[in-house]
Amino acid sequence: MTELIVAFDMGSGRDALLLAARLPQLRWAKLGPVLYVREGPALIREFAQRGVRVFLDLKWHDIPNTVAGAVTAARDLGVSMATVHCLGGRAMLGAAASAAGPDLALVGVTVLTSHDAAELESILGRGVPDVGFEAERLARAALQVGLRGIVASGHEVGFLREVLGPTPWIVVPGIRGPGDPAGDQVRTIEPAEAVRRGATHLVVGRPITEARDPAAAYQRLVEALD
Ligand code: C5P
Repeated sequence: MTELIVAFDMGSGRDALLLAARLPQLRWAKLGPVLYVREGPALIREFAQRGVRVFLDLKWHDIPNTVAGAVTAARDLGVSMATVHCLGGRAMLGAAASAAGPDLALVGVTVLTSHDAAELESILGRGVPDVGFEAERLARAALQVGLRGIVASGHEVGFLREVLGPTPWIVVPGIRGPGDPAGDQVRTIEPAEAVRRGATHLVVGRPITEARDPAAAYQRLVEALD
């Protein structure tokens, strides 16, 4: 069954925990750099103690030894899923996968959604005729060295599921119901459609965190996944 991950992108750990307490069936919480830099490991421990799995989305990209050390620290803290950049290269990804062990699922960010073909060309110093092909190439390299899965937008998930087969996790952010404001998201997808196209995990932030009734919004999404 597809898992629902709530992105806690608020300004304080206190607000995050207050909201979490209003979502009684909460299984996964995504913590990103803003809240992590502010609150540190204590917030991860707090979520873990409440039986909520933590997805630590810090998108690591550094030399292999440093990333492996960060992954080990996350594993020791009880983090259940974390992100690394596939552009960090095979050695870095392999070191990260070895450090993660069986309890921490590592997923790779292939091409940032803020990057279009022109931006990617300027980074790589070569032509990029097809961003989807670059995402596939990076995903394959990450999976070959032992990552559990990848992060993909709703527009790529169907294609990537087709080419990568049934096993890898595909974590999809940018989820919006029919009435939800897109906010700054460009490549949005409805929850049931993301599941149909092969997503294993949906990341939902503002449609829950900024809803008038977050618990009801969360419940509607859980039902859409059923
Ligand atoms: O509020 P919203 O549902 O748009 O939140 C989506 C979450 O997923 C945010 O935490 C955002 O940082 C994250 N994300 C994303 N696009 C990516 C990778 C992560 O929106 N490509």
